[in-house]
Amino acid sequence: MNLKPVDMKTAAPEVFRVFGENYALLTAGDKSACNTMTIGWCGMGRVWNLPACTVYVRPERYTYEFMEKHDYFTVCVLPKDKKQVMALCGTKSGRDIDKIKMCDLTLRYGEGDAPFFDEAELAVVCRKLYVQDMKPEHVVNHEAIDNFYEDAGWHRMYVGQVVEVYQKK
Ligand SMILES: Cc1cc2nc3c(=O)[nH]c(=O)nc-3n(C[C@H](O)[C@H](O)[C@H](O)COP(=O)(O)O)c2cc1C
Repeated sequence: MNLKPVDMKTAAPEVFRVFGENYALLTAGDKSACNTMTIGWCGMGRVWNLPACTVYVRPERYTYEFMEKHDYFTVCVLPKDKKQVMALCGTKSGRDIDKIKMCDLTLRYGEGDAPFFDEAELAVVCRKLYVQDMKPEHVVNHEAIDNFYEDAGWHRMYVGQVVEVYQKK
């Protein structure tokens, strides 16, 4: 096993670099079934005085079904050399193929049986705190979102309380 639990106060991912360069996998489900997809959007910080991680999922995604059904989700930052994993998990749907098997990812389970991958540089286990749909009427700067929503649904925002962090030691 590569990943070890760490005190989240000492886990210091450079989030702006990580999500600009490495991308990450969002995974939800449990030991009986789970699904993963590439994400480019993620916010890490604090809310209600809790360490928090926010992800944004379009309703068309198969992963959305798992996000809805389960109380936990994980965000795994993979090393840069796993670019092909990011590409496959970001273009193919778990409805059609078993992405985890195809990418040869090693499943581990955290609190709440939340699935994450031992190949990650960093795995953040989250317990859902707050869920809200993003809506056009709430957009303030329309230039920033440009044409994101021409042909697909508005993202649902999931704020999770960070309950565990795993990192390579
Ligand atoms: C670099 C990259 C970043 C992505 N970021 C997101 C994201 O933040 N939210 C989202 O809903 N989809 C995102 N996607 C798209 C999903 O990863 C993609 O549609 C995936 O095939 C969904 O798989 P699923 O149907 O198994 O859930 C991204 C794709 C790529 C390539």
